[in-house]
Amino acid sequence: MAASGGVVRGAMASEPLARAVAEEVVRWGSMKQTGVSLRYMMEFGSRPTPRNLLLSAQFLQRELPIRIARRALELESLPFGLSNKPAILKVRDWYLDSFRDIRYFPEVRNRNDELAFTEMIKMVKVRHNNVVPTMALGVQQLKHHLCRARNIPFGFDEIHEFLDRFYMSRIGIRMLIGQHVALHDPEPEPGVIGLINTKLSPVQVAQAASEDARAICLREYGSAPDINIYGDPNFTFPYVALHLHLMLFELVKNSLRAVQERYMNSDKDVPPVRIIVADGEEDVTIKVSDEGGGIARSGLPKIFTYLYTTAKNPPDLDGPNEGATMAGYGFGLPISRLYAQYFGGDLQIISMEGYGTDAYLHLSRLGDSEEPLP
Ligand SMILES: Nc1ncnc2c1ncn2[C@@H]1O[C@H](COP(=O)(O)OP(=O)(O)O)[C@@H](O)[C@H]1O
Ligand SMILES: [Mg+2]
Repeated sequence: MAASGGVVRGAMASEPLARAVAEEVVRWGSMKQTGVSLRYMMEFGSRPTPRNLLLSAQFLQRELPIRIARRALELESLPFGLSNKPAILKVRDWYLDSFRDIRYFPEVRNRNDELAFTEMIKMVKVRHNNVVPTMALGVQQLKHHLCRARNIPFGFDEIHEFLDRFYMSRIGIRMLIGQHVALHDPEPEPGVIGLINTKLSPVQVAQAASEDARAICLREYGSAPDINIYGDPNFTFPYVALHLHLMLFELVKNSLRAVQERYMNSDKDVPPVRIIVADGEEDVTIKVSDEGGGIARSGLPKIFTYLYTTAKNPPDLDGPNEGATMAGYGFGLPISRLYAQYFGGDLQIISMEGYGTDAYLHLSRLGDSEEPLP
């Protein structure tokens, strides 16, 4: 099988051992993945007894190699030679290392095994911290290469679809590991179940994300537009604070940048960015609204692709600080949409060219939707 031949290369010194692992990757990569809903994670995690943590570890010991093997195989068979770009090979090796660490960890049978297993998957999560910028680097290398050849080929969609699957899968893997690890917290804050905050105030998260985004805007431009937040600060719903913060941070950065660049050299009053939080029965919707001039209709189909940015100075993609720049990866919108979709929500962008942009972040309230399993 072509994929197993590729897996063997480079990853390990001993040929027979390498081949055995490669065969395992192929075998596990074809097994069925099992999804988990937000509600299930909440119910299960509300009783983090040693017995439940053991069950959780046993589930992960079977589930994680399946999900990781799929990604490793897919990384081997990307079009346009993307698989051979050094950055992509690096990511592929991280996936293989993690597959081995988990698959060949002794069977988890008791409390001690469980604690050791938890330490190990914590390390796995750290190993993959820089996957997003590293993949971005690989894709950017390919983009430069193809642009020089002057033939952006048909079927570049294929890479975009691959990246959607890849990042969606990464969100799921990190959620499962993060949730399991966080359930070991001996003194969780009230209402917190692992990574899930059952009483999360979207207005508060919007405030925090706004402060972070303004700080970066200030650093980059020397000034930052105001941000007004509308909504009941006492309204709460169950969600993962990290995810919501990440999405709002990206949306607010985009709005600040648009407004800033439009008003930088004008003496007109700078219109504030407005964030509106609405609590519906089915969805919590958060609108991030700016008067930054909008996006041309012809540009709209591109904004959710991984190759599109209008930032002039792409950040140093070799750097470790994922997401800490104002703009330039071109990854903010597509990745935020995946985070929203992960728990059954969505992200839409509506633009009025010449005026401004509204981003609608829909978050599903019920948390019943099954995990998307690419
Ligand atoms: N609020 C907005 N106003 C105007 N343009 C926007 C806005 N949000 C996004 N865009 C456009 O979409 C592009 C992609 O956004 P994004 O995915 O966040 O990547 P990045 O911000 O790194 O360029 C931006 O470069 C910009 O051209
Ligand atoms: Mg952005």
